Amino acid sequence: MAIPQSITNRNPSQLYSDQGFLNHSEPNPLEISIPHIYSRPFIQHDVWQLKNNAAARNYEVALDRSSYETHFYNQQRIAAVIIGFQEKFFMEHPVATPAGFRKFLEASLEKILTEAEFDASPYVCKITDPSDDSFIHGYGKYLLYGDDNEGAPFCLQYFHFAPGQKTPLHDHPVACVSLVVKGQIVERHYQAVSATEARKTQITHRDYFDRKSILDLSAPNIHSLKNKQTSHAGSVHFYYMDGDVTSRAVKTIYQKAPQNGFSVIRNLQ
Ligand SMILES: [Fe+2]
Repeated sequence: MAIPQSITNRNPSQLYSDQGFLNHSEPNPLEISIPHIYSRPFIQHDVWQLKNNAAARNYEVALDRSSYETHFYNQQRIAAVIIGFQEKFFMEHPVATPAGFRKFLEASLEKILTEAEFDASPYVCKITDPSDDSFIHGYGKYLLYGDDNEGAPFCLQYFHFAPGQKTPLHDHPVACVSLVVKGQIVERHYQAVSATEARKTQITHRDYFDRKSILDLSAPNIHSLKNKQTSHAGSVHFYYMDGDVTSRAVKTIYQKAPQNGFSVIRNLQ
């Protein structure tokens, strides 16, 4: 597994002087009153997910400078933990494959975050105006780790939800395991009624450290996540990125279809 150079050999002051990652422009610039910089310290060529420039531009929201530093150190500590796990794993399992190591990491997601002392405090999405069109889908997305892992690619992302923020209705071309690390998130499940519309079937409430797997990609996995609380919420997502040619973790975005008498199962966990 290649270790991204940017997270091993660089420090925040070097990153501030590297204008490369500042050249990305947000398609819909966010209204942030304080000076901000782009939230990705990785350089483009060393992150598998960022091979597609268009996807990269639509990827993350900005952080202010001090938050950016905390974000950077989160990335460094997570990388250090993963590298440590890698050494130990292949010492104990000398014939294991990169895919086996990825599965081990996925199963160890809680441990990775705990040992890395993951600090979710810098990720406070600053979009506060619900009348802003970007608000609904304006949750924060931050890359924590990405690697092609010798043919078994994966990445870790943190999603931050300010009160009221939610994802669109979507499904995935890749498997994902997610873990709530702050607050509470409501997950709504949907059934497709056409190629573009889906109907709500079930609601679950996910609390701190609740884990959810989307590993059966043969079945529809349409869902949305929302923070209905008045406090902030966040979750870490471990995406398997096999066979994906678009560098996107979302396959289809659906519109909400009318319920038409369909009952919704609540609080089924
Ligand atoms: Fe999802």
